[in-house]
Parts: sequence; structure tokens; C-alpha cells
Amino acid sequence: MEAERGVTLGIYVPLADMTETRPLRAAARVSTEGVGVRSVEPEPEQRAPENTPRFLYGTAWKEERTERLTRLALETGFTGIDTANQRKHYHEAAVGAAVRATLASGAVTRERLFLQTKFTHAGGQDQRLPYDPNAPVATQVAQSFESSLEHLGTDYVDAYVLHGPTRSRGLGPEDWEAWRAMEALARAGRTRCLGVSNVTVDQLRLLCAQAEVAPAFVQNRCYARTTWDRAVRELAAERGIVYQAFSLLTANAAELGQPPVVNAARRTGRSPAEVVFRFALAAGMLPLTGSSSAAHLRQDLAVETFELLPDELHAIERTSARGRLG
Ligand SMILES: NC(=O)c1ccc[n+]([C@@H]2O[C@H](COP(=O)([O-])OP(=O)(O)OC[C@H]3O[C@@H](n4cnc5c(N)ncnc54)[C@H](OP(=O)(O)O)[C@@H]3O)[C@@H](O)[C@H]2O)c1
Repeated sequence: MEAERGVTLGIYVPLADMTETRPLRAAARVSTEGVGVRSVEPEPEQRAPENTPRFLYGTAWKEERTERLTRLALETGFTGIDTANQRKHYHEAAVGAAVRATLASGAVTRERLFLQTKFTHAGGQDQRLPYDPNAPVATQVAQSFESSLEHLGTDYVDAYVLHGPTRSRGLGPEDWEAWRAMEALARAGRTRCLGVSNVTVDQLRLLCAQAEVAPAFVQNRCYARTTWDRAVRELAAERGIVYQAFSLLTANAAELGQPPVVNAARRTGRSPAEVVFRFALAAGMLPLTGSSSAAHLRQDLAVETFELLPDELHAIERTSARGRLG
């Protein structure tokens, strides 16, 4: 019954099908503020923009290889890049160097390219901060954002993501201050939409209830043992939020060796990694890969050239090495 609910809730809907039904451009809003003046203001985007790719290239942990690998991913055909202004794990300026070089080569246009970066609270940073830690959080967001634009060599980003709340339960005043500042950036058209990362289902619900600009994306680590973050995916699907999945391979090493994935890999002649990415796409997720291998990058982009059977999707959705052992 549980699994059937997943199917009827549209969990097995490819991203393209989900986005096609969405308004790609938000409607204009008529403002009656001011004396006798009616002006039309553009509404900020509250849905994934139309250039949202099927797969995102993640740029974490690459240090001096960041520029070369980001270029490689773009040359291989990735059009979506995920980064963060968090020097501890990302080298955003090197991502920008790769973006500039690829745009200059004409391999991809800025309109087609989907650039996503993040604001990271001080607790998630090392000493290399992109903002004044003594400034109010709203100022930190503004400073971090300006620095991201400079790193990336662009005057807008496609998605701006709150890297994670300051607490594991609920949302604190700093999180709201950051979100309100991010909303201002969205209203000013400096980011096409907003996203949030590393949240529980309760935190996502709370954010959706009180946000003035709703998140278009949620980006989470996706564990098979939580039925692939099912609670968050279901809430996201209900609200028209695109679920971005990271650590699909690294967080699920045990499950990749279990019969649901292994049998599907054997039948299709693909690797367990390809099967998991194919499952993720079929489940409506937008997966991230941070591969450093040209062959894997090509494989990852090509996972839609094969299909998994409904029974295989079902078995993979329910696989959990911990459950089997326990
Ligand atoms: N919001 C957050 O807090 C957060 C946290 C973590 C990550 N992220 C984002 O998510 C991105 C991805 O991170 P991740 O945690 O998913 O791990 P990752 O860094 O992408 O690592 C993926 C691993 O999978 C391997 N791989 C990829 N494709 C493969 C294939 N076809 N066959 C076999 N192996 C394959 C890679 O090995 P090879 O290099 O050999 O291919 C690599 O070891 C990051 O770069 C970052 O952008 C966000």
C-alpha cells in the first residue's frame, strides 16, 4: 500500500513531464502601493526554470581540479552546475573560470546554462568567509551573493540555495533572516528562483508555510534506507518543488550490492551506478553527480537510454541493506 501510494503520487514521473505542466514564467502582479499608482511588477519565479537540466554536475571537493573537471562536465554535455560560496568544500571561483571559458567557446549559451550556488551560514564555513561574520545575516547573504556573481562571472544565477538551516529541528531566526534576504534577491530578479538544502520534511513544510517566495528546489542527501528520502520527496512533489538528490551512490554503497540493484544491472547490462541514477530519474528526482571520470560523466548523462521495469523500480525503491540485515 505504501509503495502504491508512491506510484499514484507521481513518484515515477520523469522531471520533464512534471515541469511541462508548470507555469514556466510567473504571472505579473499588479501593485496598488503608492498614491493612485498601479504598476505591474514581475513576480519572482517560484518554480524550477525551464532551463533546469535532467542531471546536475556537482563541484564539491575538487580543489585544484575544479576548473578542469567543471569544463570537462560542460564539454561532455552537462548544462547544470551546482556549487556554493563555501571555500571549505567548493572552489567557486574555479567553477566560474570554467563557466567563462565554456561560454567563450560557444559550446553553451548563458540562457541554456543552469547555474546554482548557495549561501552557507558561518557554522558551515571555515575561516575563508565570503562575508563579514559580524554583519547581520541579511548583509552576509547580500555579500555572499555578490561574491558568487563575481566568482561565476554572471549577473544572475538560476537558483540560489540556503545550504542548510542553523539547527536540526525547526528554523531559527538566522534562517528566516537569510531566507528573507534571499527572497529580496529573487524579487529583484538576481536569482531566478530559490532552493533549500539539508532539510527534514518538517523544516520544508515550515518553510513552505511561511515563505513569501517558495522554494523551487530542495537538495538533500538521499539514503535508500529512508526509502530514498521519501517523506521529503512526497512533500516536494505535492508543492511542485523539484527534489535534487546528492550522494545517491556514496550514501548507498551497501544497497548498490543488494539484489534489487544488482539484478536490474544484470538484466540491462548496465552498472549498479547507472541503475541507481536511472531509478532516481524515474522517481522524479534531479540527481547530482560529481564524477571526475570522463567515461562516468558520459554514462551518467546517458542513463535515460535504457529503461527499468515497474517491478524493478518498485524493488529498488524499497531496498534497504539495513532493513535486510536487521
Ligand atoms: N547541499 C549539500 O550539503 C551537499 C552535500 C554534498 C554534495 N553536494 C553536491 O552534490 C554533488 C555530488 O556529491 P555526491 O555526494 O553525490 O558525491 P560525488 O562527489 O558525486 O561522488 C560520486 C561518486 O560516484 C562515482 N560515480 C559517478 N558516476 C559513476 C558511474 N557512472 N559509475 C561509477 N561511479 C560513478 C564517482 O566516482 P568517479 O569520480 O570515479 O566517477 C564518485 O566517487 C557535490 O559535488 C555537490 O555539488 C551538496
